[in-house]
Amino acid sequence: MTALYQVEDLRVDMQLPGGLIPFGKPPRLNILEGISFELNPGETFGLVGESGSGKTTLARAMLGLVPATGTLRFRGAALTEAGLRRGTAMMFQDPVASLSPRMQVGAAIIEPYAIHRIPKAERASAADLLARVGLPPALAARYPHELSGGQARRVCAARALALNPALVIADEPTAGLDVSIQGDILNLMADLKRDRGLAFLVITHNLSVLRHTADRIAVLYLGRLVETGPAAEVFARPLHPYTASLIASEPDPDPRRRRADLAIRGEIPGLLRRPSGCVFHTRCPLAVARCRSEAPILREIAPGRSLRCHLAGQDTTERTPT
Ligand SMILES: Nc1ncnc2c1ncn2[C@@H]1O[C@H](COP(=O)(O)OP(=O)(O)OP(=O)(O)O)[C@@H](O)[C@H]1O
Ligand code: SF4
Ligand SMILES: [Mg+2]
Repeated sequence: MTALYQVEDLRVDMQLPGGLIPFGKPPRLNILEGISFELNPGETFGLVGESGSGKTTLARAMLGLVPATGTLRFRGAALTEAGLRRGTAMMFQDPVASLSPRMQVGAAIIEPYAIHRIPKAERASAADLLARVGLPPALAARYPHELSGGQARRVCAARALALNPALVIADEPTAGLDVSIQGDILNLMADLKRDRGLAFLVITHNLSVLRHTADRIAVLYLGRLVETGPAAEVFARPLHPYTASLIASEPDPDPRRRRADLAIRGEIPGLLRRPSGCVFHTRCPLAVARCRSEAPILREIAPGRSLRCHLAGQDTTERTPT
């Protein structure tokens, strides 16, 4: 099966704005490095990582919105800078801010047709797009500030669906919503996946969001993927100490799996102070001397399962921390 979307050795660097550093050239900051994964048609792929780990930057790079090196392929064809991105759409992290404040909802969700010069015959109506996300046609006359949090998410989903994408990138789709509404949005995405064969890349800092929705998971830490694999396997047997600590600190974990010694310590370091060696060594309960000097690479340790850790393959739940 050809992958729907492939990311190979993606790297993103950003120039820090001048003025932060009194003398000399402001440094270029490495945000993401060595990111490789692929998305299959019709699957939900979860990307989890703490705030600042680079999730939104990765999404924006996949849409060609920030410069990156590496290879991006859609259905096997390399995407170029100006290349077609109609196959992929984004639900942005802040839905209200992503909509123009003076444009009515109906006009906003069909705006992509004009931007991409889609022939009239291939366009869906605003009412039809609203219906696909469970909203009444009357909502077309509203302005973004008149929407509830859940409605704003749905409107962004409707806009994302306009160009009939095969992949929707949903950046923090449940952030800022009441728990009951969070479930509604996750159900909407599950319905779209089932009824329309859509693939989703769901980006979240909250691992629990992925527990019942994702087919596969990738874990991002300070701009590096540290573990990828089928969601059920990763939840049942996390291999990277960071993944294990994320699962251990979930609010309502199964008490049999609760491991205080694996709970995460300290704050995520800033990018200007990216640790040497393994980027996780300053917080890792299992770090050994080698971890401070030598960076582990992402290795496939079983079919479909990759890990970036010198202690590759040992079960984190069976080791005693040093
Ligand atoms: N245009 C930019 N110039 C310089 N640094 C940037 C730029 N955009 C993002 N960054 C930095 O890159 C890092 C990753 O940011 P990003 O927004 O991708 O993180 P995130 O994982 O989406 O975080 P959050 O969960 O808070 O949304 C942060 O340290 C951020 O400050
Ligand atoms: S390489 Fe070392 S510091 Fe990094 S996760 Fe593995 S054990 Fe921890
Ligand atoms: Mg973000």
